Amino acid sequence: MAISRNYLFLSLLVVGLVLIPSSTAQPDQKTQAQALLKWKQSLVNQTILQSSWVISENTTDPNSTAITPCKWLGITCNEAGNIIGINLAFYGVQGTLHHFDFSSFPNLIRLDLQENRLSSIIPIEIGMLSNLEILDLSTNFLNGSLPISLSNLTKLLELDLSRNELTGELPPGLFPGGTDMPKTGLFSLQRLHVQETMLGGHIPSELGNMKDLVALVFDGNNFFGPIPPSLGNLSQLQTLRLNENQFSGHIPPSFGNLRKLTDLRLFINNFSGSLPEEIGNFSSLVVLHLAENNFSGHLPQQVCKGGKLVNFTAAYNNFTGPIPISLKNCPSLFRVRLEYNQITGNLGQDFGIYPNLTYIDLSYNRLEGNLSSNWGKSRNLTVLSIAGNMITGKIPKEIDELNKLVVLDLSSNQLSGEIPPQLGNLSALSSIILNDNSFSDHIPPDIGVLSNLQHLHLSSNMLIGPIPDQIGDCFRLLSLNLSDNRLNGTIPDKIGNLDALQNFLDLSYNLLSGEIPPQLGDLKALENLNLSHNNLTGRVPNSLGGMVSLLDINLSYNEDLCGEIHGLRPCDETFLKKSASNKRQKLLTIVLPTTGSLFITIVITVLYLCKNLRNRQEDESPLMREKLFYICNFDGNFVYEDIINATNDFNDLHCIGAGGSAKVYKAELQSGQVLAVKKLISPTEGIESFKNEIEKLTEIRHRNIVKLYGYCFDERNHVLIYEFMERGSLAENLSSEKGAKELDWAKRVKIVKGVAYALSYLHHDCVPLIIHRDISSKNVLLNSELEARVSDFGTARFLKSDASNWTTVAGTYGYIAPEFSYTMAVTEKCDVYSFGVLVLEVLMGTHPGEVISSMNSSSLGQGIKLEDVLDHRLSFPVNQKIEDDLNAILKLSQLCLCADPKTRPTMHDVSLLLEIRTGHN
Ligand SMILES: *[C@@H]1O[C@H](CO)[C@@H](O)[C@H](O)[C@H]1NC(C)=O
Ligand SMILES: *[C@@H]1O[C@H](CO)[C@@H](O)[C@H](O)[C@H]1NC(C)=O
Ligand SMILES: *[C@@H]1O[C@H](CO)[C@@H](O)[C@H](O)[C@H]1NC(C)=O
Ligand SMILES: *[C@@H]1O[C@H](CO)[C@@H](O)[C@H](O)[C@H]1NC(C)=O
Ligand SMILES: *[C@@H]1O[C@H](CO)[C@@H](O)[C@H](O)[C@H]1NC(C)=O
Ligand SMILES: *[C@@H]1O[C@H](CO)[C@@H](O)[C@H](O)[C@H]1NC(C)=O
Ligand SMILES: *[C@@H]1O[C@H](CO)[C@@H](O)[C@H](O)[C@H]1NC(C)=O
Repeated sequence: MAISRNYLFLSLLVVGLVLIPSSTAQPDQKTQAQALLKWKQSLVNQTILQSSWVISENTTDPNSTAITPCKWLGITCNEAGNIIGINLAFYGVQGTLHHFDFSSFPNLIRLDLQENRLSSIIPIEIGMLSNLEILDLSTNFLNGSLPISLSNLTKLLELDLSRNELTGELPPGLFPGGTDMPKTGLFSLQRLHVQETMLGGHIPSELGNMKDLVALVFDGNNFFGPIPPSLGNLSQLQTLRLNENQFSGHIPPSFGNLRKLTDLRLFINNFSGSLPEEIGNFSSLVVLHLAENNFSGHLPQQVCKGGKLVNFTAAYNNFTGPIPISLKNCPSLFRVRLEYNQITGNLGQDFGIYPNLTYIDLSYNRLEGNLSSNWGKSRNLTVLSIAGNMITGKIPKEIDELNKLVVLDLSSNQLSGEIPPQLGNLSALSSIILNDNSFSDHIPPDIGVLSNLQHLHLSSNMLIGPIPDQIGDCFRLLSLNLSDNRLNGTIPDKIGNLDALQNFLDLSYNLLSGEIPPQLGDLKALENLNLSHNNLTGRVPNSLGGMVSLLDINLSYNEDLCGEIHGLRPCDETFLKKSASNKRQKLLTIVLPTTGSLFITIVITVLYLCKNLRNRQEDESPLMREKLFYICNFDGNFVYEDIINATNDFNDLHCIGAGGSAKVYKAELQSGQVLAVKKLISPTEGIESFKNEIEKLTEIRHRNIVKLYGYCFDERNHVLIYEFMERGSLAENLSSEKGAKELDWAKRVKIVKGVAYALSYLHHDCVPLIIHRDISSKNVLLNSELEARVSDFGTARFLKSDASNWTTVAGTYGYIAPEFSYTMAVTEKCDVYSFGVLVLEVLMGTHPGEVISSMNSSSLGQGIKLEDVLDHRLSFPVNQKIEDDLNAILKLSQLCLCADPKTRPTMHDVSLLLEIRTGHN
């Protein structure tokens, strides 16, 4: 872009100098000044123009009204005093172009308003700027579709409308020529001529327009539909950026004509089909971005024909066929991303040496061959990622020449041999990802010197010997996974030094023996610890209780562990004998939901939970509650104090919601953390559902279910502590004009899917299954991204397969399944019904009420139409995919609302259908 801008700037100067004032009637300076002032008046924020764009009142100067606007900020004039340039880029101009009188500036060559706060549409009158060469309205809030009058701007060299909210299809008439591609300029003229004659005087003005365009930059808008083939007629184009829109269809063959392209960006759209092979013949190509579309077919084989290719991405498509042959000799490469395609080739033979290459990702393709020693010669590599291919052989020792390497990911291949100790020389390394290969031999202790290492993943190999002590020196490690190898010996104490360790420490599925070192308790930031499937013995150190960040710890399938933690055999002789017979069969998982310093332990035995619900509830729950209570008063104490302080002892000022038996407060802790705190209004009332809620929530974890951080009981207060959901309930958002508008169709589709996934998880992935029983728009909360989290498990209950579930009325009026009123039996299909109501509500923006009964009475197949129900506060979806998604969702809601619970789909079906019909997020 820099190159073309310079060029444009020069040409602007030249044009500016030689410009001969036109002899036709021109708006005089006064008219031009007044036009500018009129626009200025219409702007919201005139701060920047306040002192400059003024006609100064100078009483001593009788000529003052004729003051020239040529000296005003951002204004350039030619010698005749006509405005030829308006440049207010980056000035914070806020307003619209409605009051900009385009007719007053017939000489304008450059209009640059980039990076401002302009909104509304681009007025059709812009077509009057017939001398315009540079139009830059990028990074504003302009919307609507492109005015066809743009095609009047026949002298345009640069058109940059990127980063706005423009929408619609690109009008084919915007670009010159017919749909057939003339091959030469001469031919093109003849063809134009023929068409003029054929059209009998009715000459489409756009023919032959914009033919000089050098840069067309439309990225980051909401354009959709296919690219008009006529765009291929802009034969002078050097820069074409259509990335980050919703364009679809094939790339027209006429693109083959854009031979001067240096920069072609099509990434993040819905393009499909194969590319015109001619793209490989553009000998000036420097940047080619094709990533994240649905392209298929081969990559252009001659993509580096001109030897200038610097940045090349095609990742996340469905390209097949070989690695482009011209990449072998392409030393200009700087950044290459081809991951997630089905490209074939030989890693050893199809690549060359790239002195400038810093980043290459070839992961998840079908590459074979070895990592040749040549790869050590691309000395500037910082990221080398070739995961998920079929490469074999060893890692060459020459890898130690890549001394800038930060990420080495060769996971999921068939590499073998030792892990080269030379990796220890690569001091910049932050990730070594070599899992899922056939590496053998010992873990090289040399890794210990890598002081920048954050991720070391060596799982699922055939590594032997002990875990080297030196790993304890990698003090920046965030995750360490050595599982599924044949490592033996004891767990080094020094692992306890890795106090940055946060994501996980996984040593499972090895042959580790001895006791768990108490030093592991020092890993205060660790969230997941898995030591299962080893031969560990002895007492589980009490220090593990101090691992305040733990979410999940798995010690199951070891030789003979004991400890004071509930669910473990106490370290006591009589128990030793008793359990000797079934040792190694005990599956133990300890879940510790915590946040920061807040520490609550819930101990559940998963096997028990699955097989013996009754025992678990009767025998273990009291113990569990006791533990909760106990721990809350110790480790959790000061957080509780903080909460009392933050809410001013539960002052109503901090109350953000109230239900039947509880109030919800917003607590902003001194640490800056924001929590939602639910407190029972009267500690004796609703206590059962309160405790019920704790039980449910501590056992379930799902991204669409609100997170319960903790729970505190004291004589006065019973409180639950949740993650705070910034945007409140779905109901609140739908009921406000502003909220409803923000919840655009795409977001609403996502909310429906989120709730469906959460319910599917509760019904089908939890043992025993959990029925929510109170799904309504009040109980679906939204985070700052407007993503859904199901909340309020006050009435939820486990469903036991063997018992009938008689119950009292629960739920919210308007969402309760009809059968409930006469059977009082709770099945998961009650939730499905409530979900159906909720879905309609999301589409309509309000509770569906009568619509439900009309739905049930209307005969199958001819249900309600989308246009009849959609929330009027949003415009009808313009995007076909969204419309299809909404139709699918509407149909689904009809199924969920069937009067007969048996004919309603399960939430599993619903999730699956949503996935299939609307695609994965
Ligand atoms: C007003 O006009 C006179 C004469 O042209 C000039 O000398 C003076 O600087 C002007 N004053 C202002 C405030 O522009
Ligand atoms: C006002 O304009 C006239 C004609 O352009 C010029 O002759 C005269 O000197 C100007 N007066 C002042 C004070 O600038
Ligand atoms: C107006 O724009 C100026 C300069 O960009 C900025 O500092 C000021 O905050 C803006 N005022 C308002 C009310 O937006
Ligand atoms: C196109 O430009 C001509 C002058 O070249 C002007 O008369 C006409 O109004 C313009 N058309 C539009 C639609 O702006
Ligand atoms: C290539 O990509 C890098 C990283 O995104 C960027 O900094 C650089 O400017 C790009 N080079 C060209 C020629 O676009
Ligand atoms: C990718 O291409 C293969 C072979 O052409 C085809 O079988 C497959 O369905 C395609 N996948 C997608 C997601 O388009
Ligand atoms: C490598 O990059 C440098 C600096 O950007 C550049 O001057 C040089 O021409 C590049 N090398 C190749 C072979 O393109």
